[in-house]
Amino acid sequence: MCGIVAYIGHRDAFDIIVKGLKRLEYRGYDSAGVALMNGDLRVYKSQGKVSDLEAISEGKDRSGSTGMGHTRWATHGAPNNENAHPHVSQSGDISIIHNGIIENYATLKEGLIQRGHNFSSDTDTEVLVHLVEDIMDHSKLSFADAVRSALKQVIGAYAIVILSKNHPEHLIAARKGSPLVIGIGDGRGEYFFASDATPIVEYTKKVIYLKDGEIAIVENQEMIIKTIENVVQTPYIQELEMNLEQLEKGGYPHFMLKEIYEQPKSIFDSYRGRFDSATGEFHMRSIEEFGAKLKDIKRLILVGCGTSWHAGLVAEYLFEDFARLPVEVEYASEFRYRNPVLYSDDLVLAISQSGETADTLAAMDLAKRKSATVFGVCNVVGSSIPRLSDAGAYTHAGPEIGVASTKAFTSQVTVLTLLALGIAKLRGAMSIDKIAGVMQELEQIPEKIEKALSLNDEIVKLSEKYKDSRNFLYLGRGYNFPVALEGALKLKEISYIHAEGYPAAEMKHGPIALIDENMPVVVVATNSEHYEKVVSNIQEVKARKGVVIALVSEGNRMLDGLVDHVLEVPETIEPLSPLVNTIPLQLLSYHIAVMRDCNVDQPRNLAKSVTVE
Ligand code: M6R
Repeated sequence: MCGIVAYIGHRDAFDIIVKGLKRLEYRGYDSAGVALMNGDLRVYKSQGKVSDLEAISEGKDRSGSTGMGHTRWATHGAPNNENAHPHVSQSGDISIIHNGIIENYATLKEGLIQRGHNFSSDTDTEVLVHLVEDIMDHSKLSFADAVRSALKQVIGAYAIVILSKNHPEHLIAARKGSPLVIGIGDGRGEYFFASDATPIVEYTKKVIYLKDGEIAIVENQEMIIKTIENVVQTPYIQELEMNLEQLEKGGYPHFMLKEIYEQPKSIFDSYRGRFDSATGEFHMRSIEEFGAKLKDIKRLILVGCGTSWHAGLVAEYLFEDFARLPVEVEYASEFRYRNPVLYSDDLVLAISQSGETADTLAAMDLAKRKSATVFGVCNVVGSSIPRLSDAGAYTHAGPEIGVASTKAFTSQVTVLTLLALGIAKLRGAMSIDKIAGVMQELEQIPEKIEKALSLNDEIVKLSEKYKDSRNFLYLGRGYNFPVALEGALKLKEISYIHAEGYPAAEMKHGPIALIDENMPVVVVATNSEHYEKVVSNIQEVKARKGVVIALVSEGNRMLDGLVDHVLEVPETIEPLSPLVNTIPLQLLSYHIAVMRDCNVDQPRNLAKSVTVE
């Protein structure tokens, strides 16, 4: 949520910032702004997208080799020009960009108003830049120390960058609860700052992930990292694994479509090298180093939000079936505010694509405080969730840019399958032969997904037919109940059609009242132990004149006369069927959204990384 890019060095800052903001636009796209220093401090900002910012700054002075830019996802204050970042201090000499929420901004603001400050926006952020100036005006503190002192007064979460006209050789950045990555440039005092590494990778692969409570001070071409309490830190410089092609659309019209089509590879990358079929060994740090602990855990609690929560629901079936472990799946946002009963032999496993979701982080924090072991399954390397975890596993899906999560979901399910099997082995809940059997089938999944993707043309035709529907219902049972939820979420978030996912048998307890000839009902009816029951549920829908689009296993013609449309997907074992069955549902939502002229990669009101609660 909210994207930050900043640069100090010898190149043209504006170009670097604008290019970077475009890469971060998935984080928020309500408004955008930039501040540039070249003797003076110039701020340009605009409601709307980064392209609007480019347009309004066209023909103006965009020079300067120090600057910062921001793309906003509104929390405090409407998305308009005034509330767009950067914000400036009372004198206009100091400027800030911020991602996060200053929770005590109202109290701070009141004090500042009493001391004569005037505010021009409704944001929490503007308060912080006024506070820094107020401290400088009333003390002998240096610029950096004044920022530290201001941050000590702040309650809440932030990633910030601050520039001052009177300190042109400085750039100050800090984080607490919101991510900030620093790229180390060419050795001539060049540094890049961003909310994630995507704006940086083009220029350098050497990065530092700023830790919570740290402040980075660039002064006269040198950077020093300290804690807010002024203790100098030795940063860990990390090599980025990402490359530039992964951040481009590669010929696809949208990132979402590219990411849907990447799934044969991303799933392969998720399991590659993690199981040795010759020895039956799992090569995952979490299994190898935490084996003794995992053997004895009594309960698994999976936490996540949105699509990651859906992956958790699939995992509930996997861990129960494979590892015979009691499982609970929790929305992180609910879990964090309950008073959950947790024991030291509980394993709490957080699932997240971005690794920065505020509610998931808070749930982990709570679990740690209550002495549970905390694991993370995460896609973004170096993000906050893996750093807070005792152990876990990366999904290795590669950068996911489309706001609607697609390949991250299937990679999460893949990694959770490995963990379930690994824990099953440790607990003696499954024989090596059975584990190897599941792994052999998992290795067939990329090919089966290729086949599922070839349904694309059929799905385009279906989308044409149903794109104007006002409601959709998605039904599934067992392992495919979460698939129904995920199908519904994909459709509603990018096409703005109301959609609900339901366990098929639960339909008769309410949603059946909605069914009429205008209601498309997508039913996952692939081969499973519930197949006959799902067919009965289809009969119930047809008896009420509902339109049924059924996903069936390849070769199954039994529903031909009964349902309106059949999509045949390759068959696999039931525990792995969510990996295949999700694909047509992703394509259906994608094509419907495109046909409705929706902004598929950046749906309204959403952001890729939800770093506020
Ligand atoms: O980065 P995370 O996986 O923690 O994000 C969780 C949700 O915000 C995310 O899955 C969201 O629901 C997506 N828009 C779904 O497509």
